[in-house]
Amino acid sequence: MYTIIIILLLILSTTAAITTLSSDITALKAIKSSINPATIPTYTCLHSWDFTSDPCSPPHVTHFLCGLSCSGDRVTQLTLDPAGYSGTLPPLVSQLTQLITIDLSDNRFHGPIPNSLFSLPNLQTLILAGNSFSGVSPPAITNLKRIQTLDVSHNSLSGSLPKTFASLTELTRLDLSFNQLTGPIPILPKNIIQLALKANSLSGYLQKQSFAESTQMEVIELSQNSLTGTIPGWFFLSPSLQQINLSNNSFTRFEILKPVNSSLVAVNLGFNKLSGYLPAAFPAYPMLASLTLSYNNNLKGRIPWEYTKLTRLFLDGNLFIGLPPKEFFTRKASVSGSLGDNCLKSCPAWSELCFKSQKPWSVCQKAYRHRGKLESKS
Ligand SMILES: *[C@@H]1O[C@H](CO)[C@@H](O)[C@H](O)[C@H]1NC(C)=O
Ligand SMILES: *[C@@H]1O[C@H](CO)[C@@H](O)[C@H](O)[C@H]1NC(C)=O
Ligand SMILES: *[C@@H]1O[C@H](CO)[C@@H](O)[C@H](O)[C@H]1NC(C)=O
Repeated sequence: MYTIIIILLLILSTTAAITTLSSDITALKAIKSSINPATIPTYTCLHSWDFTSDPCSPPHVTHFLCGLSCSGDRVTQLTLDPAGYSGTLPPLVSQLTQLITIDLSDNRFHGPIPNSLFSLPNLQTLILAGNSFSGVSPPAITNLKRIQTLDVSHNSLSGSLPKTFASLTELTRLDLSFNQLTGPIPILPKNIIQLALKANSLSGYLQKQSFAESTQMEVIELSQNSLTGTIPGWFFLSPSLQQINLSNNSFTRFEILKPVNSSLVAVNLGFNKLSGYLPAAFPAYPMLASLTLSYNNNLKGRIPWEYTKLTRLFLDGNLFIGLPPKEFFTRKASVSGSLGDNCLKSCPAWSELCFKSQKPWSVCQKAYRHRGKLESKS
């Protein structure tokens, strides 16, 4: 009998003990009321946010069914469903000081990201992808000392990034792709693994100081920007690097150094303004399987036979000459891709690599004229 009473008392006391901190409730109310009610249909998480009951108190049978998680009396996660909520994010969100995760992806939030958000001391994951947040990329972003994942891709952020992200020592994934960011690539933090800044208007050179500390980097996606100059040899040497996409920029040259413990698997340098010759050292990268150097590139000379060891090779839209290495066309060769739209001699039409035809003789002749004979360089 006594045990039953004690158990009952325990249950009562634990449920009664959870009453969400009032400043957290104020913040949640502000968040809901900043959203156009017409964009909160009955089946959504936000619709179940009914402040006649307590947000953190279980059981959540009819109210606060989803969209937030608590630890004790504090809100730790704000993870809204992608229901198309339209509204702004109020500065009061920063009262949720125990937040670890914010995910508001694929809604219609607009206006600036409130600066106060960047003062959240425990935030590890911030995902605002696929909204319409605008305004200049906030310098205060570098205050998020514990951030691990930062994804504000597919928004309308403008302006240049802070000079350095070095203070974000726990950041492993940064995705700011598909915004309108300008200026140079910042100094990257030392533990970053994935960097995506695709489809912005970033400009300038690839500077060694930007990448020098980030030795854990595995994926670099910088395609569709306005980056210029030489792609330096050290850029390919980062020991953990597996994938590089620098396509659709304005690079003019690239250097390849002898690989040291390289993990590089796939490189896309297509749609640039590259000129020069194919370095024989590139296929020496032991893991390299996929290489794209297509189009807007004015690469010349012969294709070294070493390139036949790759599995995907796109060299179309350049000025390569001579006979392509016969190893491309032997029965056991398994290279796919394209050698078309070059100045190659007898690319066998039955091979998939040669489906796209070669350039007219006159174009090739013109491209090589000032360097002497068409066959002179290899
Ligand atoms: C690289 O970027 C281009 C252009 O944005 C894109 O088409 C391509 O799929 C990307 N990925 C790879 C692996 O090349
Ligand atoms: C890359 O640039 C080329 C040439 O300007 C363009 O045709 C192509 O659509 C671009 N690719 C992407 C993914 O933007
Ligand atoms: C390359 O890898 C080997 C074995 O994993 C290691 O002993 C060596 O220090 C590495 N060299 C460099 C330059 O990182």
